Amino acid sequence: MKIDKKYYSIAIDGPAGAGKSTIARQIAKQLGYIYIDTGAMYRAMGLYFVRENISLEEEDAVTKACEQVDISIAFEQGEQQVLLNGENVNGLIRSVEAGTMASACSVKGQVRKKLVELQQRLAATENVVMDGRDIGTHVLPNADLKVYLTASSRVRANRRYEELIRKGESVSLEEIEKSIIDRDHRDMNRDISPLCQAKDAILVDSSAMTIKEVATHILNLFYEAKNK
Ligand code: DC
Repeated sequence: MKIDKKYYSIAIDGPAGAGKSTIARQIAKQLGYIYIDTGAMYRAMGLYFVRENISLEEEDAVTKACEQVDISIAFEQGEQQVLLNGENVNGLIRSVEAGTMASACSVKGQVRKKLVELQQRLAATENVVMDGRDIGTHVLPNADLKVYLTASSRVRANRRYEELIRKGESVSLEEIEKSIIDRDHRDMNRDISPLCQAKDAILVDSSAMTIKEVATHILNLFYEAKNK
């Protein structure tokens, strides 16, 4: 058992709809760690650019916006809330459009720098399970466990479809799958910190696994890593 270490961290990366947030939340609860959803931070930034009518093409405007905007998080009953200039925007960032806006603004270096700093600060003061696209490769390169969680695009689209239908959004499965494939393409091919499996990350394909099976598997991997 490592005894020289202050805080533990688990990094879970992977494409959209792979089940990262569901799994990360469960694992965090089980371990008594904080679950940090970094995608929600990019979604809040995307919302800000849309609200302020700032074009992502305008480098100076994007830089200025990143200097001015305040993104922070708080917890309500253990659930992360994202605050955009103090306003809780959790209820506004879950749509397919918000995901697309988030992906679009996440290619900008200024945006990534700002949010990565926030994420690293959080992990420096808590035991965390953090999910995103660049956690194992960039945000927490020394994480105690790195997992690359994926599933086929059809399985991922189906899961997202059911989640959105449950929330009352009217969406088509084909459109969701197309938007997932487009989003993955942009996230995997951007210049800065593209989505990829870290060299030391363990690949978990959840296509044919239940949530419980995936969570148990990752917890076992963590206990093994912790006791090494
Ligand atoms: O995990 P999510 O679907 O909420 O993420 C929304 C978008 O934010 C995703 O398509 C890419 C971006 N993102 C990122 O670039 N880096 C992260 N660590 C998390 C999300």
